[in-house]
Amino acid sequence: MMALKGLVLSGGKGTRLRPLTHTGAKQLVPVANRPILYYVLDNLQEAGIDEVGIVIAPETGAAIREAVGSGERWGFKVEYILQDEPLGLAHAVKVARPFLGRDPFVMYLGDNLIGSAISTFCRDFVAGEVDATLLLKRVGNPSAFGIAEIDAQGRITKLAEKPKEPKSDLALVGIYFFSEKIHDAIDQLKPSWRGELEITDAIQVLLDHGGLVSSHEIASWWLDTGKKDDLLTANTVVLDEWLKHQIDGEVDSDSEVTGRVRLGQGSRVINSKLRGPVVIGENVRIENSFIGPFTSIGDGCRIVGSVLEHCVLLENARVEGVDRLEDSLLGKSSAVLKNHGSHHAYRLMIGDDSEVLL
Ligand code: G1P
Repeated sequence: MMALKGLVLSGGKGTRLRPLTHTGAKQLVPVANRPILYYVLDNLQEAGIDEVGIVIAPETGAAIREAVGSGERWGFKVEYILQDEPLGLAHAVKVARPFLGRDPFVMYLGDNLIGSAISTFCRDFVAGEVDATLLLKRVGNPSAFGIAEIDAQGRITKLAEKPKEPKSDLALVGIYFFSEKIHDAIDQLKPSWRGELEITDAIQVLLDHGGLVSSHEIASWWLDTGKKDDLLTANTVVLDEWLKHQIDGEVDSDSEVTGRVRLGQGSRVINSKLRGPVVIGENVRIENSFIGPFTSIGDGCRIVGSVLEHCVLLENARVEGVDRLEDSLLGKSSAVLKNHGSHHAYRLMIGDDSEVLL
């Protein structure tokens, strides 16, 4: 089988996840306590890909390098490719050309999460004669995505990037298969209204020149995790489908654990109830609290006298004395503290290093 290379886009500014991404890369925001990017790399590994280029931005590149390293955990040979400015997905491919050479490749956006493997799509692409293959998913808000029109065989006939009046509800998932022909198409592009070289436009150029572009409508879920609610949904789905019960920390005899719970080493649960699916990292302290389903708690967090449900807490966050916190996303080393007052449920998204006193 002809080897496919992997190209993972891990740059960009993550404006839609601010304030969380003021201090970090959006691809490293955790879902079920693992960076989104790791699920992307898992999927490439599972498809048998071992040469992976990771496009990084000057602001967050160092953090991405630190998280992935040489890629040996996945058995990859990783090459980092610096994209100086966020000038679009097609620009990223242009910058990656020395790495890609003339080889076919799968381009995977580092903040996209799908509920299925990509190995069969990889095999089909390598075996087929098409110039590109796109993955599609029906969405309720097509104006927020690249949109495809297809014929009866699933061949793409026309594409539009975030159209105001969408002609279909088939969105382009951030996973694309390309032959070397994409490079010529990119060379003909002009920047779009948002000043970027759009990959969607490049594929349209390919079509305009008689190129063949096939598609697969994916059956599983797909999340573009760039927003708070999508991130909470991703957390829910991943905990629901993939979490395995494993208790490495300590649970005292006054506490109760039900459902699937992963509790990391060095973590202590004191006089509390955990109702899974819940993942708790290492060196976390949970005292006199209730942790409800679909909650992810990062390493070093401290939760005292509080009720949490459907929340994501990044490393070293603190929650104390809060009657009920739900659907919330707390940044690294942030704190939500309450002394006294009325009983309320809160829904928050607070950035790294911030403190909220209720
Ligand atoms: C990009 C693409 C869009 C695609 C989306 C998938 O949008 O331009 O066509 O549907 O990724 O995540 P962006 O996230 O850059 O706005």
